Amino acid sequence: MCRLLCVQVSRLSKPLLRRGFNVSAAGNRHQRVLSGMRPTGRLHLGHYHGTLKNWVKLQYQHECFFCIVDWHALTTHYDEPQLIEENIWDMVIDWLAAGVDPSAAHLFIQSHVPEHAELHLLLSMITPLSWLERMPTYRDQQEALSDQKDLSTYGFLGYPLLQSADILAYHASSVPVGEDQAPHVELTREIARRFNHLYGREPDFAEKVDNAVHKLGKKNAKLYSQLRKNYQEKGEHEALETGRALIDSVQNISLGDRERLLGDLEGSGKLILTEPETLLTETPKLPGLDGRKMSKSYHNTIALREAPESVEEKIRTMPTDPARVRRTDPGEPEKCPVWGLHKVYAKEDTQKWVQQGCRSAGIGCLECKQPLIDAIKKELAPIQARAKEYEENPSLVRNIVAEGREVAQDTARATLKEVRQAMHLIYQ
Ligand code: TRP
Ligand code: SF4
Repeated sequence: MCRLLCVQVSRLSKPLLRRGFNVSAAGNRHQRVLSGMRPTGRLHLGHYHGTLKNWVKLQYQHECFFCIVDWHALTTHYDEPQLIEENIWDMVIDWLAAGVDPSAAHLFIQSHVPEHAELHLLLSMITPLSWLERMPTYRDQQEALSDQKDLSTYGFLGYPLLQSADILAYHASSVPVGEDQAPHVELTREIARRFNHLYGREPDFAEKVDNAVHKLGKKNAKLYSQLRKNYQEKGEHEALETGRALIDSVQNISLGDRERLLGDLEGSGKLILTEPETLLTETPKLPGLDGRKMSKSYHNTIALREAPESVEEKIRTMPTDPARVRRTDPGEPEKCPVWGLHKVYAKEDTQKWVQQGCRSAGIGCLECKQPLIDAIKKELAPIQARAKEYEENPSLVRNIVAEGREVAQDTARATLKEVRQAMHLIYQ
């Protein structure tokens, strides 16, 4: 029986591990994804390749919440709040145009769900200042923007903690983000752990755990106790993994019991908040028109709603390898920003054609750019057609966000109820 179960367990846990999901803290109970984006206005191809394409894929694999984080925008743009509103609607239209599907994912605005703010406040009670001060994003950004505005504010220091609240309010098991955001997800994990450690122990925890273990059935209960012992006394990590998979695989226990067992297995209390995994976006970074990262502040972008003539003009005037002064001078693709885009857009044969033609001066730069222009136009055409539909139908966009809010709020409310209970904030 034990062997059989172990086989079952390994069959269960492997695909989860491979996908980088959180088989740790909360097991596979939620497989839920949450991500957020600051409303910076119209999006560009960098957002599309770096983030949105990934969201579009994830929305059909997991329950996804995509949040427009307007409060995060306020932490840096507190002096121009009027911009945020317009940016929100422009950004939602671009999400939808890029293929984010409101029947598959929940799209909502952070400030529509005040539970984020409540959780942020409650978490702030247990967050050591040093955890926030050591965030690399904090000092870097503060310095980068120091000539424009004063970011030595309470709100800006709390930026990563607000992000933690966004994530924890939904028990998100994974958070798709770029590398720069990984420290924020790591902070979120630390906060969840600290919270669970401080407030996870119910007064009758031991008794409830006993009941839950009983429900596993005799054989599984025995196996569970053995695994717990092997992990806690001998530090066997494999026993921990197997124990988690065992808890995941049992069908007939409640969510609360599952959390108690996971907590007991690890030696803490009940896990109230879920530790999220970082789901690093793997897509190659799309460089901007000048070869640097595509970013509005560098003025090197192609917007998702860029007119086709403008796409053409922008690519045609892109700088190339400076060594190619004349058409007859050979060039080196590695020194040319156009090549960075070909690497994303061109098929292998075109890539070969570029490399050979460039190095032998067999092709001219305009010639080289043509397949790129065609590929980008082709990619943008369906996106722009969808954007137009939503532009012409603002009430549809409002409704999508209102529906997202409903689901988001129900979920966040339930979490906050548990959090308040754990923190003894229910007075009657
Ligand atoms: N800080 C993130 C960024 O700048 C945006 C964000 C806010 C976020 N809340 C989040 C991302 C929650 C993921 C999950 O990109
Ligand atoms: Fe760049 Fe293409 Fe010109 Fe070579 S031929 S320098 S890759 S644009």
